[in-house]
Amino acid sequence: MEKWASQKKEELENLRRNEAFRKEFLLNLSHELKTPIFAVQGYIHTLLDGAIDDPAVNKVFLKNATKNIDRLCRLIDDLDEISKLESGEMTINKEQFVIQDLIRDVFDTLSIKAKQKDIKFSIKKGCEAPVHVYADKEKIRQVLINLIENSVKYGKPDGQTIASVYNMDGKRALVEISDTGIGMAEEHLPRVFERFYRTDRARSRDIGGTGLGLAIVKHIVEAHDQTINVRSKVEVGSTFGFTLELGRENLL
Ligand SMILES: Nc1ncnc2c1ncn2[C@@H]1O[C@H](COP(=O)(O)OP(=O)(O)O)[C@@H](O)[C@H]1O
Ligand SMILES: [Mg+2]
Repeated sequence: MEKWASQKKEELENLRRNEAFRKEFLLNLSHELKTPIFAVQGYIHTLLDGAIDDPAVNKVFLKNATKNIDRLCRLIDDLDEISKLESGEMTINKEQFVIQDLIRDVFDTLSIKAKQKDIKFSIKKGCEAPVHVYADKEKIRQVLINLIENSVKYGKPDGQTIASVYNMDGKRALVEISDTGIGMAEEHLPRVFERFYRTDRARSRDIGGTGLGLAIVKHIVEAHDQTINVRSKVEVGSTFGFTLELGRENLL
């Protein structure tokens, strides 16, 4: 009887927590939608009220409106991805591939953004020997894009992003993405994987962040039954590390 009671109590506790999460999520979501929609509304109304004939501002206002529409599109894309991941609709299609090849691919994809901030990409010395992993390549590409994009966005100019790959225990590989960026204070670390959590809302928004990137990363890693963690120091940099199943190729 006592066991049953404590079980029920736990269930209720869980329901309450889920309900609180749901409320917080909706509150955050409406706030995230409001900001760009109100901005677009403001620019369009001002244009219609006469600014359209003022060559000093008409193009600027249109450009600003477009920027906010682009923000909304990114937000919708990320929300789409999250809801697919959360509803369990996402299927994981595993294959064997060399993780360093995928990292180099993503480095190439993001090289323009990195150059703009003079940030150098590299694979850590001693981590070049090909490590075969068994995972969903396109989903892991998304994980790497989100982490490496953050390393640039929150990186300091003239800095570095270094990827390292280790064979942990003959079963799993550890992939780490380290940067020399602004870092994060200890108190933020347990929360950065939450939807819409940001250490600096204004800065993240300015650089086009939706606040959903790391939530997506965590979902994908956990859908692989693997783990992700973060270490960071303010003004020194951050390291995000996640595990992957090793491919059989390594054992041959
Ligand atoms: N490499 C990093 N260095 C410092 N802060 C980071 C880093 N990656 C993520 N963060 C912090 O975690 C927050 C959540 O990241 P993310 O989910 O990718 O959202 P977004 O980049 O859209 O803001 C960011 O707003 C930022 O405050
Ligand atoms: Mg991000």
